[in-house]
Amino acid sequence: MKNLIIANWKANPVTLREAVDLARKTELAALSHRTVEVIVAPPFPFLIAVLSELKRVKLGSQNAFWEDAGPYTGEISWQQLKSLKVSYVIVGHSERRIFLGETDEMVGKKVRALLEHGLKPVLCVGERERASHEVSETIARQLEAALAGVKKSLLKNLIIAYEPIWAISTMPGSHPDTPENAFQCNIYIRKILSGMFGRTAGQSVRIIYGGSVNANNIKGFLSGGHMQGALVGGASLKAEEFARLIASAALLRTR
Ligand code: 13P
Repeated sequence: MKNLIIANWKANPVTLREAVDLARKTELAALSHRTVEVIVAPPFPFLIAVLSELKRVKLGSQNAFWEDAGPYTGEISWQQLKSLKVSYVIVGHSERRIFLGETDEMVGKKVRALLEHGLKPVLCVGERERASHEVSETIARQLEAALAGVKKSLLKNLIIAYEPIWAISTMPGSHPDTPENAFQCNIYIRKILSGMFGRTAGQSVRIIYGGSVNANNIKGFLSGGHMQGALVGGASLKAEEFARLIASAALLRTR
């Protein structure tokens, strides 16, 4: 299976012109490395312009509302995103949970709506601090809330991003997780999934890592095939670095 590299641009860049330029450069980098799957998730106002620059790279979004349409001021529905050819949707990112009050219940509604309508949620889970009990408690709670009521047959479209909050590059004092620790969490995530959906389903869901991933450390996270890709923030905004990151990921296969 190919590794999945998802660029989460967050609320960057500031102008449409910069967004188009970055999309163009990302597409070029992906064109020369066909053994990796690249997704770009730009801010909503740039989706259409970015889409017109992409062929190899697929379009993602950073959020979606669970209803198809209606009186929900300020929200953007899964159906609207689907009509723009968005295929992957980041859900439950810690920045939305912390700064925008997104609850486990809201995340669950989004995951279910997206899976039921053929979109691919990238469900983010991860603890605030690296204390062992917090890691397991948080991950278990977030997974159980987000995946309750999901049909096993829809899990093939689910991606889980293990993204410890303390490892996100913009957090004060942040540092990347070690590949070894990330793999331990990967095993724990699979254990919870297997408990909820049975062993076969639990083992087949794609799990990726996020948190200070860059062109120099990507290899460590993808080696061995435990993590099947990465969710990249800061480094995805630097076209040259992101091209090097894609090139590294293209050399490694997942299990
Ligand atoms: P950084 O890669 O900047 O640490 O961001 C990680 C992230 O939050 C991606 O969703």
